[in-house]
Amino acid sequence: MRVRAEAGIPIKKKTSILCAFSIEDTNVAIGLGKFNKKIDQTISQSLKEIKGKKGKIAIIHSHKEISSERILIAGLGKKNKLTSDVIRDVTGNITKKIHELGIKEFTIITPEKISIKNDQVVSAIVEGANLSLYDFDLYKKEKSNKKEPDLTLLTSDKNAQKIIKNSITISDAVKFTRDVANLPPNECPPAKLGEIAKQIANQNKMKCTVFSKNEIKSKRLGGVTAVGQGSKNEPRFIILEYRNGKKEQKPILLVGKAVTFDTGGISLKPGEKMDEMKFDKCGGCTVLGVMKAISELKLPINVIAIVPSVENMPSGDAFRPGDIVKLFNGKTAEILNTDAEGRLILADGLAYGIKHFQPSSVMDFATLTGACIVALGTNVAGIVSNNTKLASKVKSSSAKTSEEVWELPINDDYMDMVKSKVADIRNLGMGRAAGTITAAAFLANAVGNVPWVHFDIAGTAWIQPSTKSKSYNSHGATGFGVRLVVDYLMNQK
Ligand code: BES
Ligand code: MN
Ligand code: ZN
Repeated sequence: MRVRAEAGIPIKKKTSILCAFSIEDTNVAIGLGKFNKKIDQTISQSLKEIKGKKGKIAIIHSHKEISSERILIAGLGKKNKLTSDVIRDVTGNITKKIHELGIKEFTIITPEKISIKNDQVVSAIVEGANLSLYDFDLYKKEKSNKKEPDLTLLTSDKNAQKIIKNSITISDAVKFTRDVANLPPNECPPAKLGEIAKQIANQNKMKCTVFSKNEIKSKRLGGVTAVGQGSKNEPRFIILEYRNGKKEQKPILLVGKAVTFDTGGISLKPGEKMDEMKFDKCGGCTVLGVMKAISELKLPINVIAIVPSVENMPSGDAFRPGDIVKLFNGKTAEILNTDAEGRLILADGLAYGIKHFQPSSVMDFATLTGACIVALGTNVAGIVSNNTKLASKVKSSSAKTSEEVWELPINDDYMDMVKSKVADIRNLGMGRAAGTITAAAFLANAVGNVPWVHFDIAGTAWIQPSTKSKSYNSHGATGFGVRLVVDYLMNQK
């Protein structure tokens, strides 16, 4: 979407539709100002009608009495509930309305001097507008109308244009993540993810290495080898290197689970909703989206991304319950359930990345456990960390971007729950107890002392029936995590 900032004033603005926000029970449209008696009266009537309630929108035709053809007023809801996410959500609704009406260009009066910082208001407006018209229709003959209206932001903020540019880059990366994550499993085997990674690397001057099945095996990535061996679609181990910081600066490592389809393997999943396991690559897609964004933003940092990718299938070649496999970190893992496959490939990704790149910190992203949905639902991701300082930075980026997270504990008692009688560790906890944490405890064995935050995005990576509806999320993948992590990385130097 094309968005630009303008310092002009509402009464002089020539536009198809001039949009302003209103807070509940205030009867004012923020920043709109006065026009003429007739128009002002109509505005005031409309304000009384919608009462600033969230979700309500009023449109007034000006019949050429003023410079803009129409005025739109959108309710933001109660003042004490106003967050940047409300602005993101309401802006998405405005944009959808304007798109529906076939209007080609619109203007939003940026609400200033409210309880939220200006740059966060501008980002929220741009993201809400740019994400709300997303629709995955690649495989439909009848396409949704892809023509996005142009947006002008009226603002006095001199930095607005820069913030707009960055927010477009970031929300475009979210759309990219959704596009890849929404690909069906027959069209997106691990090799395809490898090609996509190479594409973004070429476009943005990153180094990209993709290991084949044989290379994965010879490098002793035993977890990836085991999970990947049941499918005709061979595994890939994807490494992206973005280096734009000081040479001596240790990189930040991002690891993302990319199971292009998770049948459960020999421990086969039930048929119901199995199609949704095409979204089991979402962690990897989030990491690819982050790398696209930060390389386009040219952040002055060093970041390494690792995306282990497999298809988890049952077959005569598949790994089995009872198998003992040797992971990259040298530890042996007893397989008790082939459906707990994500931790096996992630452990290899984490250990390989830590050994080869000596990162200062590590984050991993994975649709790892159904237990996370039981614990936190579908609007909040679980995080588990070995470092309070890093976790608190993640929480502050989470608060800023409204990509919600909740920290779950980890300690030696949980580590004991993944010990095995016949191998170093087991890929299953004790029954259903603390399933999200025992999965993280398995990963902790591969991480050691490096500061680390694990994100379980099983509930938030795609829209499920219990997902709270937001104007800027469509059906399918959400791209959860991209905005949060890019915000975190923008604050690193
Ligand atoms: N990809 C799934 C987790 C999942 C399930 C995410 C449903 C989102 C929705 C993962 O590989 C898995 O199957 N986990 C098992 C682990 C269990 C066998 C310990 C699970 O959660 O049931
Ligand atoms: Mn599984
Ligand atoms: Zn899985």
